Amino acid sequence: MEVKEQTRHGMAERAKFREMKEGTAEDWALIGGNFREFARGLPDRVLKHLTLLEGDFGGFPICRLEHCLQTATRAHRDGRGESYVVMALLHDIGDTLGTFNHPEVAASIVKPFVTEEEHWICQNHGAFQGYYYFHHLGMDKDVREQFRGHPHFEACAEFCEKYDQSAFDPDYESERLEFFEPMVRRIMAKPLKSLYADA
Ligand SMILES: [Fe+2]
Ligand SMILES: [Fe+2]
Repeated sequence: MEVKEQTRHGMAERAKFREMKEGTAEDWALIGGNFREFARGLPDRVLKHLTLLEGDFGGFPICRLEHCLQTATRAHRDGRGESYVVMALLHDIGDTLGTFNHPEVAASIVKPFVTEEEHWICQNHGAFQGYYYFHHLGMDKDVREQFRGHPHFEACAEFCEKYDQSAFDPDYESERLEFFEPMVRRIMAKPLKSLYADA
């Protein structure tokens, strides 16, 4: 029986297996074609998700989207490369779904597209940001010290000092999200490392 589905674009063919072990090369050529189109939409999905942070202040002086724009703008104006700026833009995108571990969510999203150091910065910026406020909450501001001696310790400390902890200024003129869109599209068009990159 031919298996098809009605989609916005008309009738779309589907793979015929009920268990993966029944799959054929024909099935996977079809799924692979779908994946390539889906992957091309990644920048749109990421940018759309980032806008969920708009108007979400959480008591901070500026909303979470504005903070992301300001962090990215500061990094860009300081001469950082495109993948660094994209990491800076997305570093808090995990706040919505990873409320208790947002750096890891952002780090996973940028991981295929950025350097190992940029990924490490993104993944660990939460502990390093704590240096600037954990003591106000009865926590240990030096929790980042567990990473002292790591090859990327200074790079992460620098990201937080120059671009993240400093990006809460309501008077700072940040670039708009549209300014960063082409960068996100360029960076996400080229996965440097992925289990699926060879396909
Ligand atoms: Fe953060
Ligand atoms: Fe941040």
